[in-house]
Amino acid sequence: MKYAVVTGTSKGFGASIAERLLKAGVNVVGIARNQNQQLNQVADESRVSYQHFTCNLTDVDRLDRIFEKINDQVFKKDTELVYLINNAATVNPIDIATKHTIEAVQAHMQLNLIAPIITTALVLKRAKHCGIKTIITNISSGAADRSTYGWSAYGASKAGLNRYTNTVALEQKELGTKHKVILFNPSIMDTNMQGDIRSASPESFQAVDQFKQYKEDNQLSDTSDVAEVLVDILMDEEKIINGKYYQIKDYR
Ligand SMILES: NC(=O)c1ccc[n+]([C@@H]2O[C@H](COP(=O)([O-])OP(=O)(O)OC[C@H]3O[C@@H](n4cnc5c(N)ncnc54)[C@H](OP(=O)(O)O)[C@@H]3O)[C@@H](O)[C@H]2O)c1
Repeated sequence: MKYAVVTGTSKGFGASIAERLLKAGVNVVGIARNQNQQLNQVADESRVSYQHFTCNLTDVDRLDRIFEKINDQVFKKDTELVYLINNAATVNPIDIATKHTIEAVQAHMQLNLIAPIITTALVLKRAKHCGIKTIITNISSGAADRSTYGWSAYGASKAGLNRYTNTVALEQKELGTKHKVILFNPSIMDTNMQGDIRSASPESFQAVDQFKQYKEDNQLSDTSDVAEVLVDILMDEEKIINGKYYQIKDYR
């Protein structure tokens, strides 16, 4: 049996990743503040299980207790492989750095950077204890690789996630484990996050008109198409290269 823990399954890319995994025969545990009833139906049709954990991932102090329960659900006697996909994130606050509040920056970093760091560690720790192989995917963004006016928090959290992922991958290689940790950059997709980006003011986000144009020109990918590529990569697990930065643009 294969299990996947996916964060941010209520909508957007995370919902599509969970759906594709269920259809591929993987049991899924989803985490978000809101439920996604459709995934229960997909699980029934695919004869696998879908379990939802309601959790605000900015409450990082609760993650060890929640992942104690989640790890019990996925690291079982007959488990051959556990995937963790750290997908949940926010682009907010969108504004120049001097306008950021402490609360907004704190919530951003907790969700985008600290939560994936903690979940990666908790899953790898349990994987080591159980001797079950695990493959962790951290969802990145092009924003990590270049500076965008108004996205200092988002660029910083995604760049931090990239470095963290590369470092943990290196450690696992040096330790000679079978676990793999990778990055996946989905590029621009038609989700609520893009709605947040388009609703920013030009004073907060200089490139807002360009992003409105992407939407008008139908340049935003369908999350289901991008999730299909990611899940195809994950299903061919022997071929996955530990530490690799996978990008959707290389599969088009
Ligand atoms: N969309 C793009 O163009 C794009 C481009 C590059 C990279 N990405 C990356 O792709 C990933 C998915 O983005 P998306 O566009 O699908 O975003 P989205 O549509 O805004 O969905 C975000 C998901 O994360 C969950 N989430 C948000 N805050 C949370 C919290 N505090 N606790 C728990 N769950 C939370 C949401 O669920 P609840 O609200 O129910 O909690 C939702 O399921 C992100 O890592 C993003 O950085 C997106």
